[in-house]
Amino acid sequence: MHLDTKNTKYRLRETVIVFFILCGLLLDPASSHASAVTESGSVYQQRLIHSPDGIGKFYMGREIAQVMGHQGAGWLERPYRETEEKPSRVVDALNLKPTDVVADIGAGTGYLSFRLAQELPLGKVLAVDIQPEMLDIIDSLKKERNIASVEPVLGGVSNPNLPNESVDKVLMVDAYHEFEYPREMMEGIVRALKPGGRVFLVEYRGENPFVPIKALHKMTQKQARKEMSAVGLAWVETKNFLPQQHLMVFEKPTG
Ligand SMILES: C[S@@+](CC[C@H](N)C(=O)[O-])C[C@H]1O[C@@H](n2cnc3c(N)ncnc32)[C@H](O)[C@@H]1O
Repeated sequence: MHLDTKNTKYRLRETVIVFFILCGLLLDPASSHASAVTESGSVYQQRLIHSPDGIGKFYMGREIAQVMGHQGAGWLERPYRETEEKPSRVVDALNLKPTDVVADIGAGTGYLSFRLAQELPLGKVLAVDIQPEMLDIIDSLKKERNIASVEPVLGGVSNPNLPNESVDKVLMVDAYHEFEYPREMMEGIVRALKPGGRVFLVEYRGENPFVPIKALHKMTQKQARKEMSAVGLAWVETKNFLPQQHLMVFEKPTG
């Protein structure tokens, strides 16, 4: 009887220890044991325990967010967005030349694409998205607004499907954190940029806990710079003139 109680105590203690070791393995993204749940050789880690807003896949210590479905298109076109986010300042920051070719990656309904197109009388906007439903919305808005210079492009999850050295500037607004294959996407974007071309990355400020957006849908500047540097982009500057987002500018080297 006495022995049974002792065994039960030992078993309980062992179970608790194993439980905490497993939690450590699953929760610590920096753990060397992460490879236990990683495709070997991959830059990504898959974790069983993760945020309900993420896909359980981690890249450079960051969990990738779930894609905003096309059902949320109305939110992208909300009438108070100009007051809330000041997207016209984003367009100004691109310092567009009339002939520029700009890729709006993760274009959604084309909210930014159509604003960019107004500044490009001789250029065009390639509005890339992976959801055909979003591209259908862009197509119908194109007809309604009679704007020919916005071209919808169906991208793949790991490829923006743009020709090499074909674009002067790339804009990504609240989209990059959703890319399921950020490394491959960014490699494709770098290939598509002309030498000296620039990437304008707009993300909600992850450093500020009072920005009322889910954590995985924000990014810190430190994280973004780390991820852009991994594909050979050079940081140029960060503009903090937007109410809730930062606009980070990166450049493809000319060499
Ligand atoms: C939150 S919405 C932002 C849309 C738009 N940039 C805006 O600010 O109105 C993010 C968009 O990124 C798209 N997206 C996610 N992963 C993508 C990828 N790998 N390539 C292209 N678009 C992607 C989604 O389909 C979605 O339409």
